[in-house]
Amino acid sequence: MVADPRPILQAMTDVRPAHAYPPPSAPPIDLAGIAAVADFEAPARERLHPAAWAYYEGGGWDGLTIRDNLEAWRHWRFRPRVLVDVSGVDPATTLLGVPVSMPVGIAPAALHGLAHEDGELATTRAATAAGVATVVSTVASRTIEDVADASGDGLRWFQLYVQRDRALSRDFVQRAEAAGYRALVLTVDLPVLGYRDDVIRLAFDPGYQAYGNLAGRAALEGAHLDDLLDMRSAGLTWDGLAEIASWSAMPLVLKGILTAEDARLAVEHGAAAVWVSNHGGRQLDRSPAAIDVLEAVVEAVAGRAEVYLDGGVRRGTDVVTALALGARAVFMARPLLYALACAGEAGVARALAILHEETTRALALLGAARPADVRREHVTRVSSGR
Ligand code: FNR
Repeated sequence: MVADPRPILQAMTDVRPAHAYPPPSAPPIDLAGIAAVADFEAPARERLHPAAWAYYEGGGWDGLTIRDNLEAWRHWRFRPRVLVDVSGVDPATTLLGVPVSMPVGIAPAALHGLAHEDGELATTRAATAAGVATVVSTVASRTIEDVADASGDGLRWFQLYVQRDRALSRDFVQRAEAAGYRALVLTVDLPVLGYRDDVIRLAFDPGYQAYGNLAGRAALEGAHLDDLLDMRSAGLTWDGLAEIASWSAMPLVLKGILTAEDARLAVEHGAAAVWVSNHGGRQLDRSPAAIDVLEAVVEAVAGRAEVYLDGGVRRGTDVVTALALGARAVFMARPLLYALACAGEAGVARALAILHEETTRALALLGAARPADVRREHVTRVSSGR
C-alpha cells in the first residue's frame, strides 16, 4: 500500500525527455472530407507526437469511464414530435446571461500547443468566429492575456486549478478578470492527478516552460507535471470557496460534480453553475458517465443554477439528449484538440460548424425550434443500449 503515490510517479518519470513535443508540421488535412467530429481522430493520431497523442486521448487507470462516456448515450432514444413549426429553428441560447450561437462550448484542456503551434490562440479565434464559449485552462500553452487578445470579444471563461501558492491563484483570477474573462470555472475533481499509465510509461512531461502562465517562474524549475497539478496541498474544501469567489466579481462555476449531494453543496456555496464532469475519464476511473448522473444533479440543483455537462459529447444528437435531461449546455475537449491538430483554426472552425449543423437538425427533427423547447419527454431510456 502506497500512502502517497507522488514519489512513485516522480521516480518512474525521472528520465524526462530532453525534447519538447513538436506540434504537427504536416500541411492541414482536406476539411471537405470531414463530416463528423470523430473524423478528426485518426488523422490527428497520425500527426501528433506519440506522447502528446497518449496524453490527449488517455485516461485514468483502465479507461472504463472514458468508454462509458462515449457509450452511455446509446441508452437514450428520442420521442420526436411532428408537425411542430420549426421553420425558425436556431440552437442559439445564453450562458450565464451571455448569448452564444449554440449550447456547445470548448471545455478547458491543457496544452493546445501540442496540437498546433498557435495553440489556444487558434482555438479561441475559431470559437469567437463561431459565437461559442471557450474555457481557457490554467495550464494552457499560452498566457491568459495572449488568449484574450487573440479572441477579441468572444465569450471566454477562465478555468482555475488552485495552486499551492494562493497568491499565484489569486493573481491568475484577477488577471483573467482584467483581461475580460466572464466566469471563473473552478475545477474540483483534481485533488491529485488521476493514475494515468501512459503518462508514466511515456514519461510525459513537457516541463513547466510549456505552460504559458507558469513559464519563467524560477520557483517551478524542475517541477514535474504531477507537482504542477497537485492540488491536495492547496487543501481546498467547501469552506475555501468563499475566499476564491471573493477574488473577483466573476460568477463561479464548479466543474467536476458527479453527485446530487455535491450539486446541492455547490449551489449552497454560491455556484452560478454546476458542471457535471468526470474530467473526460482522466481522473477517478469507474466514475459514472456524465450523462448517467445529469438528471440527478439537475433535480438537486432545482433551477437555482445553470447545469452543464461534458464527457464523450460527439454529436448534435448527444447535445440535444443532454438538453432534454436538463443541461443548459455541453462542452467538448478531445475532438476539438484533434481538429486543431489536423488543421489549426480552420479545423476547429469546421468542427464547430459541424456541431452547429448537427444540433440544428436534431432540434428540428425532434420538434423543438429552440434549446428551451427541448423537454424531458423528448427522451426515453432504453435498457439495451445497442
Ligand atoms: C482535459 N480536461 C481539463 N479540465 C480542466 O478543468 N482543466 C484542464 O486543464 C484540463 N486539461 C485537459 C487536457 C486534456 C488533453 C483533456 C482531454 C482534457 C478535461 C476537460 O475539460 C473535459 O472535462 C473532458 O475532457 C471532456 O471530455 P471529452 O470531450 O474530452 O470526451
